[in-house]
Amino acid sequence: MVTATALTEYLNAQRERLHQWLDRLVPSETTPPDIIHRAMRYSLFAGGKRLRPILTIATGEMFDVPESWLLPTACAIEMIHTYSLIHDDLPALDNDDWRRGRPTCHKVFGEAIALLAGDALLTLAFRTLAEIPIPDAYRDRQVRAIAEIAQAAGTTEGMIGGQVLDLLTEGKPFDETMLRTIHRAKTGALITASVRVGGILGGVGPEPMRALTRYGECLGLAFQIIDDVLDVTGTPEEIGKTPGKDAVARKATYPRLYGIEASRRQAEALIGEALEAIRSLPRSERLVALAQLVLERRG
Ligand code: IPE
Ligand code: IPE
Ligand code: MG
Ligand code: MG
Ligand code: MG
Repeated sequence: MVTATALTEYLNAQRERLHQWLDRLVPSETTPPDIIHRAMRYSLFAGGKRLRPILTIATGEMFDVPESWLLPTACAIEMIHTYSLIHDDLPALDNDDWRRGRPTCHKVFGEAIALLAGDALLTLAFRTLAEIPIPDAYRDRQVRAIAEIAQAAGTTEGMIGGQVLDLLTEGKPFDETMLRTIHRAKTGALITASVRVGGILGGVGPEPMRALTRYGECLGLAFQIIDDVLDVTGTPEEIGKTPGKDAVARKATYPRLYGIEASRRQAEALIGEALEAIRSLPRSERLVALAQLVLERRG
């Protein structure tokens, strides 16, 4: 059992560690052409929860993955996630003005630079992954981790594919199957990969990998269900973005199909499944605590 205080301390320590690594990996605000580095840093250091990279760290630590492999991998995932948020907020997609408690990247830097800042974070993520100092004997793990993340961010059942379906479904009728497909792809895939890369870098066998995969898939879907719920019930201060936008855009969401209470119950059931999946894994206390956090979060 991880107590609430111990979890808070752990989260704060990992956020600080991620901040230091990201700060080293991303060119400084004065590096020319400075506007792009200012835009990348503006969105990256705006105080996101860092759930995905913390999942990578927590999983990697279970299998004694060295910090010099784990932290660059975690940072690369956070770069990709931040790029997806910058692009998700653009007028051509969700057209949002607020993110992480501040005006969106394009509101401050303009659409062209926001577009390029997203591209730049994506590109830097893969450079970072390619430059992990892994000894030749373990090179296969690095290559598998890179392929895993690329797949999760991509078009076939990955984040971009999910974003495409999300846009195509706006204002249209949809059913449970379509909704799950969208949510699993746009959000679940990167969250699942965040967990799985910890196992890949740790060289785990097929059985623990299946457990991690199931955990990640259930957690990822639950995470997006709660995001949908918070769009209805959250305040701007809590969620750091403008609530109520999903209904206006007539997005395919869980509350729209089931209402708030039933959506929450589905998220609870998924977290139960996630916990069941990792029951037999040793040293999984932090993954248990992180799953419970997803359910309790208000922002
Ligand atoms: C927001 O993700 C986008 C979704 C996939 C729901 P987060 O809620 O993890 O955003 P940050 O990183 O904490 O800002
Ligand atoms: C976004 O889903 C998923 C991404 C891949 C960025 P949403 O559009 O619901 O995320 P928010 O609510 O803007 O954070
Ligand atoms: Mg969106
Ligand atoms: Mg959005
Ligand atoms: Mg949302």
